[in-house]
Amino acid sequence: MRIDIITVLPELMESPFKTSILQRAVEKEIVEVHFHSLRNWGLGKRKKIDDEPYGGGAGMVMMIEPLDKCISHLKSEREYDEVIYLTPDGITLNQKMANQLSLHQNLIFLCGHYKGIDQRVRDLHVTKEISIGDYVLTGGELAACVLADAVIRLLPGVLNDEQSALSDSFQDNLLSPPIYTRPEEYKGLKVPEVLLSGHLGKIEDWRHEQSLQITQKKRPDLLK
Ligand code: 6GU
Repeated sequence: MRIDIITVLPELMESPFKTSILQRAVEKEIVEVHFHSLRNWGLGKRKKIDDEPYGGGAGMVMMIEPLDKCISHLKSEREYDEVIYLTPDGITLNQKMANQLSLHQNLIFLCGHYKGIDQRVRDLHVTKEISIGDYVLTGGELAACVLADAVIRLLPGVLNDEQSALSDSFQDNLLSPPIYTRPEEYKGLKVPEVLLSGHLGKIEDWRHEQSLQITQKKRPDLLK
């Protein structure tokens, strides 16, 4: 997979891809992540990328020309499956969307800033608009990192068997059961007996039952 990320703040986004599991995915060449600093496509001597909104109002708007030039340049080099605009007014990200995106070859992530981008960029280029939740961030960069992480960890070869994504919360619309490790008892707090029994069938049943109860209690909406 190749992900091209268009942003005004590439330096804000680099460390997640240079650490731990995502770093390994990059090193193993399972994913290529390319940052494109929008400033390089800015207009004039001052590399202008934003301007005041027509009709007035607070905040600046990211201009169409730098964004169109940058996206058109990328599109001239390869075909993209999706051009994704990260914006609080997009569709809320969930596991199913991450699963679907993980099947693609080439993605563009466009990070919004200021008041947002000129509507004509959305009309012309954007194929999906994604939010990571009902709250507002200072820009799309952290949201793009979240989306990239959710997608990249699903690519074949990124996780090992122990980390397998198949047992994740949400993959079956259930939250995960409680987990424990040594010691068996700490300050009188004991690990549930069944997990020490060695009886795999009983353990599976217990975990499933716990998942159902926890989901019912914390996220009943997932059971509908
Ligand atoms: Cl994608 N962008 C911004 N700026 N805020 C957000 C978001 C995205 N998703 C949730 N809040």
